[in-house]
Amino acid sequence: MNKAYVIVGASLAGAKAAETLRQEGFDGPLVLIGDETELPYERPPLSKDYLLGKAEREMIYVHPQSWYAEHGVDLRLGVPVAGIDPAAHEVTLADESRVGYAKLLLATGSSPRRLPVPGSDSGGVLYLRRVADSDRIKLTYQTASRVVVIGAGWIGLETAAAARSAGVEVTVLEAGELPLLRVLGREVAQVFADLHRDHGVDLRFGVQVAEITESGGRADGVQLADGSRFDADAVIVGVGITPNIQLAEAAGLEVGNGVVVDARLRSSDPDVYAAGDVANAYHPGLGRHIRVEHWANALNQPQTAARTMLGQDVVYDRVPYFYTDQYDLGMEYAGYVEPGGYDQVVFRGDLERREFIAFWLARGRVLAGMNVNIWDVNDAIQAVVRNGRTADADRLANPEIPLEQVLGD
Ligand SMILES: Cc1cc2nc3c(=O)[nH]c(=O)nc-3n(C[C@H](O)[C@H](O)[C@H](O)COP(=O)(O)OP(=O)(O)OC[C@H]3O[C@@H](n4cnc5c(N)ncnc54)[C@H](O)[C@@H]3O)c2cc1C
Ligand SMILES: NC(=O)c1ccc[n+]([C@@H]2O[C@H](COP(=O)([O-])OP(=O)(O)OC[C@H]3O[C@@H](n4cnc5c(N)ncnc54)[C@H](O)[C@@H]3O)[C@@H](O)[C@H]2O)c1
Repeated sequence: MNKAYVIVGASLAGAKAAETLRQEGFDGPLVLIGDETELPYERPPLSKDYLLGKAEREMIYVHPQSWYAEHGVDLRLGVPVAGIDPAAHEVTLADESRVGYAKLLLATGSSPRRLPVPGSDSGGVLYLRRVADSDRIKLTYQTASRVVVIGAGWIGLETAAAARSAGVEVTVLEAGELPLLRVLGREVAQVFADLHRDHGVDLRFGVQVAEITESGGRADGVQLADGSRFDADAVIVGVGITPNIQLAEAAGLEVGNGVVVDARLRSSDPDVYAAGDVANAYHPGLGRHIRVEHWANALNQPQTAARTMLGQDVVYDRVPYFYTDQYDLGMEYAGYVEPGGYDQVVFRGDLERREFIAFWLARGRVLAGMNVNIWDVNDAIQAVVRNGRTADADRLANPEIPLEQVLGD
């Protein structure tokens, strides 16, 4: 029987799984296969320090090149996996070679949604997922005088902030009523709208993009359904992602908003696992499946998947966490709130100065907390979220009461 452990997707989740397998003593063949030609890298800098020219390329890599050979990881880059044969325990690569596996981890991540309007394939229409995309946007900011950003989610807001830092005029066109509305709700979404307006971004909400116009094959503006038009030297599109489930689906695994896995990150096939952006995992603390599209999940979840692959009895139950940096605002968020799934927001600190903690509550229970320009408090916020007891809003709001004592005895 084949003894190899195979990981498909050579990015953060894939590289972390390989690392944990070796740390935990797995000494069999280990194959990490990715369709990008780049060594496994982290994506957050691509819309922040790397895009801003403040970080060198070397700092994005999960491990230096030598690490893979030193740890006996057979790293195969630039080659997509084309199919999985669960019965034969084999994956087929695009070059038609086959690799057998004893256990298989899917860490195939996600891909940007394309904007389904005329002109969205013109030159100068830029998406951001890979390091080459970030290079293209950085280059664009050196020559463009104005850009239009479609979507006021994470990509839209972070690239808008980087554009302003490069002195480029920015219009952001968002279908919803506020930026990040589904994630943060109205009260906190407003903070991000104010932040960007204060930095000179022209934010437009409730818009319907009809067309990206072009001249000579290059985007030169965006036309809205109401007839209004915005000129642009380039258009950046950040309208969400879809999980890369194609391999899993074709192999007959259970899929639904990602590859469906249990709290141990096992798929419906006993020898196939999934982690990172692509995994829709049962979360014991929340009592439901969630798919998290953030860095900390891609960093930590594969460690659990790797241990499960080795037969250890572990579950993934970390509090979901993410962060952003935009202009002089840095924040961390811990917890999980369904869109509209809260009935109260409590602020502690100074909202005007953007130095505060926000808590989202439902029936008195703290579902999530976010620290903005206040540091070394996120562990305490996670403890409050994990605790699950009802909280007193006055105590939460009172900065005199340490977060560790906010729930009382
Ligand atoms: C620009 C940017 C900035 C971000 N900033 C933040 C941030 O500040 N904070 C935060 O919390 N999160 C951030 N994120 C989100 C975070 O980067 C993702 O959650 C994380 O990259 C997910 O990692 P992953 O390894 O699961 O998937 P991915 O990073 O998507 O990697 C999957 C890999 O698998 C490859 N692959 C797919 N299919 C195949 C196949 N069939 N064969 C071979 N290879 C395949 C893909 O090409 C890719 O290389 C950011 C994302 C982007 C794009
Ligand atoms: N700091 C971070 O955590 C961070 C940073 C960058 C990227 N990411 C991740 O990268 C992925 C992609 O980010 P994203 O910003 O593309 O997705 P997103 O889901 O965060 O935001 C997409 C935004 O586009 C809007 N939108 C959708 N269709 C539209 C249309 N036709 N016209 C105008 N607006 C439209 C949505 O209302 C939403 O506000 C996500 O998984 C995200 O979590 C995370």
